[in-house]
Amino acid sequence: MTLWWQRGIIYQIYPRSFQDSNGDGVGDLPGIIQRLDYLQWLGVDAIWLSPTYPSPMADFGYDVSDYVGVNPLFGTLADMDWLIGEAHARDLKVIVDYVGNHSSDQHVWFQESRASRNNPRRDWYIWRDPAPDGGPPNNWLSRFGGGPAWTLDEATGQYYLHSFLPEQPDLNWRNPALREAMLDVLRFWMKRGVDGFRVDVAHRFMKDAQFRDNPLRPAWREDMPPYSRLVEVYTKNTPDNLEANRWLRAVVDEYPERVLIGELFLPLREMVAYYGEGDQYHLPFNFHLIFSPWRADVTRALADSYESLLPAGAWPNWVLGNHDQHRVATRVGAAQARMAMTLLLTLRGTPTIYYGDEIGMPDGEIPPDRVLDPLEKRSPGHGLGRDPERTPMQWDGGPQAGFCPPDVAPWLPVGASYPTLNAAAQREEPTSMLALTRRLIALRREQPALHEGDYRSFASPPGAFLFERGQDGDRWLVALNFTAEPITSPLPEEVSRAVVRLSTHLDREGETLAGQVELRADEGLVCRVE
Ligand code: NOJ
Repeated sequence: MTLWWQRGIIYQIYPRSFQDSNGDGVGDLPGIIQRLDYLQWLGVDAIWLSPTYPSPMADFGYDVSDYVGVNPLFGTLADMDWLIGEAHARDLKVIVDYVGNHSSDQHVWFQESRASRNNPRRDWYIWRDPAPDGGPPNNWLSRFGGGPAWTLDEATGQYYLHSFLPEQPDLNWRNPALREAMLDVLRFWMKRGVDGFRVDVAHRFMKDAQFRDNPLRPAWREDMPPYSRLVEVYTKNTPDNLEANRWLRAVVDEYPERVLIGELFLPLREMVAYYGEGDQYHLPFNFHLIFSPWRADVTRALADSYESLLPAGAWPNWVLGNHDQHRVATRVGAAQARMAMTLLLTLRGTPTIYYGDEIGMPDGEIPPDRVLDPLEKRSPGHGLGRDPERTPMQWDGGPQAGFCPPDVAPWLPVGASYPTLNAAAQREEPTSMLALTRRLIALRREQPALHEGDYRSFASPPGAFLFERGQDGDRWLVALNFTAEPITSPLPEEVSRAVVRLSTHLDREGETLAGQVELRADEGLVCRVE
């Protein structure tokens, strides 16, 4: 028996950009509620909300100043209860973000912690004496901008650690009282009906207890992002870090059928360690489709090695995009984005769809004077800026793409593609990307072999990736063309005939394949094996 988060499809909402209901140019919870019918129509099973907590927004919500509240920009706690109720009424689960590595410097805990060296909450954050020369305690660098990960608090004469912005001090998970307070945050939200958590930077909770310097990266060059100057041996994925996941999981297991998802930027082998022995993450996020070259052979090798590395009982998952990465339609192009969606929704494991990717939204254009992302501001010129993938959802072809009232300026500009590329237009168009995404979702939901069957790949000609999903003798062949040229592939020996049930171009349904499969440019086929 599989659980909802194994069978289901997760849809990530970046709340600032989904739907503005009160005309301030920023999306909000009532706005999300207005769009739940769309998500139900689309057929996804769960929504994951990026943070909606009170926050000074130095990192657009990933700097939390109250873990048990709602930012007035987004609404109220009552709105969150309303959203959870409305989502559940439509059979949609609700997953919230849990930013446990760091809080905002405006959180009352940090205000107390910095008040004096002997404040009871001093040790809730990570404080160290200056180095003998008065400088930072060690060489650790901030992920944002590459300056020191330490800021001196003049008043108390010590440095505090911040893996990201100085406005995001790291919490000290070695302190039992802090730990209890943060674990209670999980209980607070589960009691309100939340179905799971996506844990921010799950690989960083526990730093080296001895605060050793990170080694220099020998291959680092001036044109590379400044923070990559060091190899992060002592700041991420430390041996102790696995402990923190167990603490979280034990609390999540106090409630039935909740899911714990970890954001982990790690090589496959290290990432799968975060399943633990069924006592850590249900789903350590697998971002490798985003970071691997977009090639058939590479993707096959990735899927095969992931499958072979998964511990017994571990459930796979796949991600094509999120609020930190350039959009898939921009990375691989509009035609390949359709094929990519076919891949995402046919691989074995829980898929996560980033809002707007179902219509093939590309990155938005951000003029220099509209840049807001602190990462871009602190490390300009490396293409790291995340504003382009956070532009408002393109709902329709009207002013501001239906995201906010016509006379209101949205917090980030609406992407230039919106007059033609929007959800309303695509709903009317039988062969649109939205139509494809919706049909892929429906097929995946309807066919157990596609949502819980086994996976195996087949040898394929260059540029093509052929694999099978199967359960109880029901077998499906997926054939994908990663190139803009046609490819003819022999059918695998094990498949004598197959009938196309869905094609990326939505025009070959019902065709019987025998002996070989001809794939047009950028085409993907999902076929039932006869
Ligand atoms: C990962 C989040 O996804 C990203 O948006 C954020 O800036 C960092 N963690 C810091 O919280």
